Parts: sequence; structure tokens; C-alpha cells
Amino acid sequence: MLTILDHPLIKHKLTLMRKKTASTKDFRQNLDEIAELMAYEVCRDLPLNEIPIETPVAPTTGYELSKEVIIVPILRAGVGLLDGIRELVPTAKVGFIGMYRDEETLEPHEYFAKFPSGMEDAIVMIVDPMLATGGSAVDAIEAVKKRGAKNIKLVNLVGAPEGVEAVQKAHPDVDIYLAALDEKLNENGYIVPGLGDAGDRIFGTK
Ligand code: PRP
Ligand code: URA
Repeated sequence: MLTILDHPLIKHKLTLMRKKTASTKDFRQNLDEIAELMAYEVCRDLPLNEIPIETPVAPTTGYELSKEVIIVPILRAGVGLLDGIRELVPTAKVGFIGMYRDEETLEPHEYFAKFPSGMEDAIVMIVDPMLATGGSAVDAIEAVKKRGAKNIKLVNLVGAPEGVEAVQKAHPDVDIYLAALDEKLNENGYIVPGLGDAGDRIFGTK
């Protein structure tokens, strides 16, 4: 399933991020705010348990999340979405997977992985601002499946049709959430119009 979260606030903030004149500070702040808005929608179908509680006035039935949430940012750029999602789901555990894309071949390479226990029963959210060829996402999903994850959501800010297709083909069971589906990839594997190199813009490395 592909869901495009085209909320007016997300569109407004994403436009500010896309501008090449956006400062690192503004880019990060808008990403943080969009992450919270996206998390609200991505969590819409989280399962609940009914629990008996007592208010100061009367006993009643309340609700609690019935499954643990594990957020897995793809390093580096995925870290930019982490705080915003954790604001809404503060009990979430966090795993990390480090991937970089070879600039020539566009092939992803894994250089780090650290996951919490309980992946089998959790809702695992893999987060990364960019879904370009889809290579990094396909491999990251493979990595969490190897650790037992069964209920997986992929949360990206901007996606290219090529990346969406690659993930849907390799992992048809994974739900994909985007703030925007852009037009295409250019000859260097960058999303058009996109927002440039997300990692560099978040961390000020170029
Ligand atoms: C970027 C981005 C994704 C990947 C997307 O990371 O954050 O992880 O590229 O491209 P793909 O869909 O073609 O695999 P990058 O490799 O630039 O590393 P960084 O996050 O450390 O900057
Ligand atoms: N990675 C990025 O950061 N931006 C793109 O447009 C493609 C891959």
C-alpha cells in the first residue's frame, strides 16, 4: 500500500525545505515538524488493547497501544526524522542501520546495524527522507526482516516512482508512506525536483 500524506501543513513545510536557499537550521526544523505530522498519520492504524481504568469520577474502559513500536532510521539522513516521530511515540524503541549509496553505481552499502530485541512482534518503522532508486530501502527492509520483523512501515519524505516500484516489487507486504511523490530520477540518481542531498542539508556537510 502506498499512502501520500498531502496535508496542507506538510506541503507548506516541504516547500520551504525544497528551496535551495533554505538554511541548515530551517531545513532541520521543518523536517522535524513534518516528521511529527507524518507520524500522526502513520500511527493511525496502530492496534489497541482495551484496559479497565478509574477516572477521578468513575470506572471506564481505556486504551493502550498493544504492540511495541520500533523506529529504524537509515543513517545518516533518517536521523532527521527520528525526534519528530519520538515526540508522538515516546515509548518507541530505536534501532539503527547505516547505509550509503555508492555515487557511481548507486548501489547501497550497509556499514552499521544495531537493533533492539522484540522485532518479531513490533511495528517496525524504517525512516529516511529520500526514496530514490529504492536500493537503500529494499536492503534496510531485508535487514529488519532477517531479525524477524513482520509488520513493517517505510516512512519517507520524498519518493521517486522508481523507488516506490522497487520497494513494492521486492517487499509487497510493506506499507509505504510519503509526503510527496516526485516526477523522476535524474542521470545522477537524484530525485527531480526533490530537495537535493538530504544528509548534507541536514548535517551541513556541503
Ligand atoms: C540517501 C538517502 C537514502 C538514499 C536514497 O542517503 O538518505 O538513504 O540516499 O537513495 P536510494 O533510494 O537510491 O538508495 P546517502 O547514501 O546519501 O547517505 P547519507 O544519508 O549518509 O547522506
Ligand atoms: N539521496 C538524496 O539525499 N537525495 C536524492 O535526491 C537522492 C538520494
